[in-house]
Amino acid sequence: MKVAVIGAGVMGPGIAQIWLMGGHEVVLTDLVQKALEAGKESIYDSLKTMRSMDIIEKDAGQYMSSFEITTSLEQAVKNSKLVIEVVPERMDIKKQLFETLNKLCDEDAIIVSNTSSLPLPEMFPDFRPGKFFVAHFFNPPQIIPLVELVRNEKTDTEAVEWLKKELEMCSKTPIVVNGFIKGFLVNRMQLAMTREALYLLDKGVVSAEDLDKTSMAAIGFKSAWQGMFNTMDFVGLDTVAFVNNIIFPDLCNDTSTPKIVTDKVREGKLGIKSGEGFYKYDQGKGEEVTQKRQTVLLEQLKLWNKYKPCDQ
Ligand SMILES: NC(=O)c1ccc[n+]([C@@H]2O[C@H](COP(=O)([O-])OP(=O)(O)OC[C@H]3O[C@@H](n4cnc5c(N)ncnc54)[C@H](O)[C@@H]3O)[C@@H](O)[C@H]2O)c1
Repeated sequence: MKVAVIGAGVMGPGIAQIWLMGGHEVVLTDLVQKALEAGKESIYDSLKTMRSMDIIEKDAGQYMSSFEITTSLEQAVKNSKLVIEVVPERMDIKKQLFETLNKLCDEDAIIVSNTSSLPLPEMFPDFRPGKFFVAHFFNPPQIIPLVELVRNEKTDTEAVEWLKKELEMCSKTPIVVNGFIKGFLVNRMQLAMTREALYLLDKGVVSAEDLDKTSMAAIGFKSAWQGMFNTMDFVGLDTVAFVNNIIFPDLCNDTSTPKIVTDKVREGKLGIKSGEGFYKYDQGKGEEVTQKRQTVLLEQLKLWNKYKPCDQ
């Protein structure tokens, strides 16, 4: 199948790589030639690393022979069965793009958006009714297995089921969310935990370093292999009910961003991109932690592919 990916920024190249690894013909398009070239290079590098770690079966060059870049949207979407929109999270840009896509795409093409926050099928009900929905990937998309497929009552069930199967054949783990909820699933659950962490940090009962150890050395250590409901079954639901009644009333339920974050934003401490956030990233440290994250996530992917925890 031919797949068109529109937008070669942070997410587009990794999403294109998923379909290449799944054996498809992929075209990546962007307005900016340099973004396309950088995207192509990052896909090639990532494929070479995955091959050297035995995560994929063929050499990078073999996958790349099914890959094309072009600044022509028309050329990219022509004969594409699947079109994935990965342009910036701006309504004006997305709106203009959908108007053009409506004219250029094949009648039966499935079009999905990687939006993080916008209820696009509700906002554009006349754009490809039933065949346009959300497919939300996670950074880095070529590594993180989950994809959230968000549909509404008008979405064509066959189209969603088709994409779900195609993603599974690309070794992804798609789930279906019925109806638009802000933040979909992953961001909601992650934010619930982040809110509690920021609250405890602000109270001064624990350091950021120790809170990170909590999520890495206990919660995260287990959670790739044992889901939340599975964990409750391990604990025993009588104990779960007892503990919930004691702890739930004590949890943070603030609805605004805590001062500890807004202060840092005001001081320009934005994280890795500015050299300091909760930690300092000077003298190449940002590059080093990013590289380490990539390596460890790839090792995790190897284990994931071996044990397939979601198939159990
Ligand atoms: N960055 C993330 O971690 C992340 C995670 C999940 C979802 N998303 C979502 O994915 C989408 C893209 O995010 P990103 O971070 O990759 O954005 P980005 O700004 O890094 O890249 C967007 C790319 O789209 C190109 N572009 C803009 N208008 C275009 C057009 N009309 N035609 C073709 N190309 C065009 C830009 O030149 C740019 O290269 C957004 O909707 C975002 O919310 C991002």
